[in-house]
Amino acid sequence: MDCQGRVALITGVHGQDGTYLAELLLAKGYQVHGLAPYLRYGLPMDPRVQFHPCDLSDGSNLHEVLELSRPSEVYHLGAQSHVKLSFEMPVHTVDVTGLGTLRLLEAVRQFRDRSGQDIRFYQASSSEMFGKIAESPQTETTPFHPRSPYACAKVYAHWQTINYRESYNLFACCGILFNHESPRRGEAFVTRKITRAATRIKLGLQHELRLGNIDARRDWGFAGDYVEAMWLMLQQSRPADYVIASGHQHSVREFLDEVFGHLDLDWQRHVVIDPAFYRPAEVDTLLGDASKARRELGWQPRVGLKELARLMVESDLILARQEAAAAAVR
Ligand code: GDD
Repeated sequence: MDCQGRVALITGVHGQDGTYLAELLLAKGYQVHGLAPYLRYGLPMDPRVQFHPCDLSDGSNLHEVLELSRPSEVYHLGAQSHVKLSFEMPVHTVDVTGLGTLRLLEAVRQFRDRSGQDIRFYQASSSEMFGKIAESPQTETTPFHPRSPYACAKVYAHWQTINYRESYNLFACCGILFNHESPRRGEAFVTRKITRAATRIKLGLQHELRLGNIDARRDWGFAGDYVEAMWLMLQQSRPADYVIASGHQHSVREFLDEVFGHLDLDWQRHVVIDPAFYRPAEVDTLLGDASKARRELGWQPRVGLKELARLMVESDLILARQEAAAAAVR
């Protein structure tokens, strides 16, 4: 598809998904605008992305950003996205992740009505909304039972997005994405915490890894595959909501086996279970059924868990070697 000259605006552009999506859209010929609270925050960004500072808990310059960028596609990825942190900062999380979405939806609607611009909206919904699961696997019709301030905020944002579609005929899609990881994943999320620690242990830079509930089960995929689904949703003739998942489930224990095994290490000798990393309420198990996305979007994941773990270990080994080299010259 020729997308030359199309304009996209991405919120949370410095995050894992934001950077992968920006690269995908730039490669397709889009002009990409990015929004995030600070200029230097998160991952390095492609210099072709035009950056606009904006905090979703404020939103007072959203109108200006939309007027300046005039996007035909808005990808709303920005959020306080750490589940455990949301218990410690519940009001902030709900403000950014829940109300922030409403601020953006309303600004987008007003901009569309003022300018007559055809505009499509993607909402980053989350499998955390299923929480205490009502059935397995989870689909687009599985009821929600959120288990954290973060998940409650995502349910709110999800329904607001659907309401803007139904009330104002906004072309708006919710992607209910299951966990997706990569070498760019933040180090406070369990997969990256594990690959960072295992590679540092391998090089003698640390000896211990403190974790919480390692019996939790997740449906993990590769972020690079998942951003393609976001784009595909906005290219359809009708807006709809889609589950995006690998359809395979593993425990944190199994991820430990995979990562430490790859490095010829025994995780049992290094992992310490620390109650500080337990959550007041846990989501024990998640498993997605992405049949609708396969059928209607022609989407399917390419990278499986083994390959994902390998990618992350290899990337973190480079970082650990740099750290070891820096320590040696000190
Ligand atoms: N972060 C973290 N740190 N998680 C741990 C730890 C630890 O030390 N030890 C065990 N876990 C368990 C958590 O309790 C959880 O059950 C599981 O590992 C995964 O945790 P995270 O990687 O933090 O991800 P998440 O599942 O809570 O949420 C992520 O995925 C959602 C999609 O389902 C986030 O990216 C959310 O923003 C996203 O919506």
